[in-house]
Amino acid sequence: MRQIIAGNWKMNGKFSDIAPYAAALSSAGTPAAGAPVELIICPPFPLLQSFCAALKDSGASLGAQDCHANASGAHTGDVSAPLLAEAGARYVILGHSERRADHGETNADVAAKVRAALGAGLVPIVCCGESEAERDAGEAEHVVRHQLAHSLPPEFKGLVAYEPIWAIGTGRTPSEADVAAMHAAIRAALVAQFPATGAATPILYGGSVKPGNAAGLLALPEVGGALVGGASLNADDFLAIAAAALAS
Ligand code: PGA
Repeated sequence: MRQIIAGNWKMNGKFSDIAPYAAALSSAGTPAAGAPVELIICPPFPLLQSFCAALKDSGASLGAQDCHANASGAHTGDVSAPLLAEAGARYVILGHSERRADHGETNADVAAKVRAALGAGLVPIVCCGESEAERDAGEAEHVVRHQLAHSLPPEFKGLVAYEPIWAIGTGRTPSEADVAAMHAAIRAALVAQFPATGAATPILYGGSVKPGNAAGLLALPEVGGALVGGASLNADDFLAIAAAALAS
């Protein structure tokens, strides 16, 4: 199955990082469209357009990290989905746990953003995942099912990323058995919620994916790729994760 490896740069990176990063991807022979691995880079908003030009010949795609639910208006500091598309983004991460925590985004907010993204022709990557306390309480699958039920509107088409909050940026990951169990639960929920498309919706794993653990995670059933934070900032690490995906 085609694997999708998306790099979430979060609030990191500078204009001067773009050229060397894009050169590393190009010289490694970034897989072209239709290849078994698709690479997506999600930098901060201001870098999108320059990154788009730099990645033109690489086969990699570009994504944003958030969008507003409205196409325009009096929303100081926000960015609309149509403008992201115009800047060169094909994808947009929505409902990341850092957005939910830092900006109080609710499932309903995320669903509205998904509609806006789809309306602008962007492919949403919708994040879900439990806190450590919720996992310890045995509530992880229930929490994730609830997030999916309320963050994905009926017209949803795109990707889902399972990111346990306690694994993000901590160097800790769930056991492979726990990842497989959660991805199976997410698949079942997607099939029930979207009978026509749920079986084919890619489900990425995210949370401390590194070159050293990528092969094991990406080989698990129902893991369709990875959403990579810290390790995506280094082109060599990101490419090593992509290579693990190619081998899976
Ligand atoms: P991490 O972040 O790889 O640094 O844990 C993943 C994410 O938040 O998308």
